Amino acid sequence: MTATGMARAITLHQPKRLEIGMGAAARLGDWAGGYQRVLVVASGPTAGMVDRLGLAGAVTLFKDVPPEPDDVALAAVLGVAATVRPDLVVGLGGGSVMDLAKLAACLWDGAQSLKDVVGPNKVARRLSALAQVATTAGTGSEAGIRALVTDSATKNKMAVESPHMIADIAVLDPELTFSVPAAVTAATGVDAMAHCVEAFTNIRAHDLIDGYARAGISLVGRYLARCVRDGADAEARAGMMLASYYGGICLGPVNTAAGHALAYPLGTRLGLPHGLANAIIFPHVLAFNAPVQPAKTAEVLASLGLPASDDPATVLHHAAGFCRGLGIEMRLSAHGATPGDLAGWAAEAHAIRRLMDNNPRDMSVAEVEAIYRAAL
Ligand SMILES: NC(=O)c1ccc[n+]([C@@H]2O[C@H](COP(=O)([O-])OP(=O)(O)OC[C@H]3O[C@@H](n4cnc5c(N)ncnc54)[C@H](O)[C@@H]3O)[C@@H](O)[C@H]2O)c1
Ligand SMILES: [Fe+2]
Repeated sequence: MTATGMARAITLHQPKRLEIGMGAAARLGDWAGGYQRVLVVASGPTAGMVDRLGLAGAVTLFKDVPPEPDDVALAAVLGVAATVRPDLVVGLGGGSVMDLAKLAACLWDGAQSLKDVVGPNKVARRLSALAQVATTAGTGSEAGIRALVTDSATKNKMAVESPHMIADIAVLDPELTFSVPAAVTAATGVDAMAHCVEAFTNIRAHDLIDGYARAGISLVGRYLARCVRDGADAEARAGMMLASYYGGICLGPVNTAAGHALAYPLGTRLGLPHGLANAIIFPHVLAFNAPVQPAKTAEVLASLGLPASDDPATVLHHAAGFCRGLGIEMRLSAHGATPGDLAGWAAEAHAIRRLMDNNPRDMSVAEVEAIYRAAL
């Protein structure tokens, strides 16, 4: 018998310790006191924040993680990690950085390659302790056991999933997100919401996860616009960090569905950042799923301050208006997409069965293409 809803057996991994709130970053140093060789993985805009962590011991800073990292970027991190032989890896950045930090903490000895570990439960062991310090409020990567790396040859996103990649400590210090530009704040914030909404309306939804999803969606409704207006609004930034963390929890036992599947080609083919790709697709998939999830769709709309409806055109209108109100350019053509791109992307997105099979309403290749056309 297949159990559904609350009766379905799930596993939830969470970081062993959470430091949260303004100034929380400085508390990492106290926790990390016993570690001798620390590798901090960062990106250009986050490298300067390393001094705020209060780390002692020998600290090596790798600051070259690009957005949406590929296997080449991972190899660069692993090369440095192999020389440092860290007893602690710290991810200091957005999802791009934290995902590579997870893999660095497990793969630096070269016993397993990236190709060896793609998929669920292939990682054999953890080599270093792992601390995750989030600097965007979006992916919730700090909360979970998944890492996404683009295949530089095929441009597909490879997903590695392993309980060995859960953080020993996660740090959510809203002050670290003050410097995130408004456009990145908006797009990554909608990504956090998409994690919650796609888990909430998912065919595999679970009551435990629905609680986190509801909390995350209402935090986005209350605080995302405020963060975009004033990047130094501490309460709003804290609210969005929490929403992102809740979204990360939703990804574990339930995960996303058609929204993320349709967003992937926009990232890998068109080169859009993950958050922006998801923001453009989000209203369309919420609308497509509305007829089969009317009650949950109404809850989502209410949490975002939008009028209730289960009519797809009305849902699309309001949800797209919410994203545009955050300053997000929602037309794919404005980002360089052309009509000739859409059929290929549709076939590719439709083939991401690990996510498409989670969608509450079956979506054909033609329906995927119709969504891209509507978003063009
Ligand atoms: N592990 C997961 O569960 C999971 C979930 C969703 C997405 N992802 C992956 O995460 C990546 C996207 O992560 P993201 O959306 O956080 O974006 P990101 O990490 O790529 O960061 C976006 C941009 O903002 C910059 N930035 C980060 N923090 C900043 C700060 N405090 N101030 C100024 N600039 C800052 C980055 O350097 C980058 O240029 C993608 O590769 C995506 O596939 C992972
Ligand atoms: Fe996402």
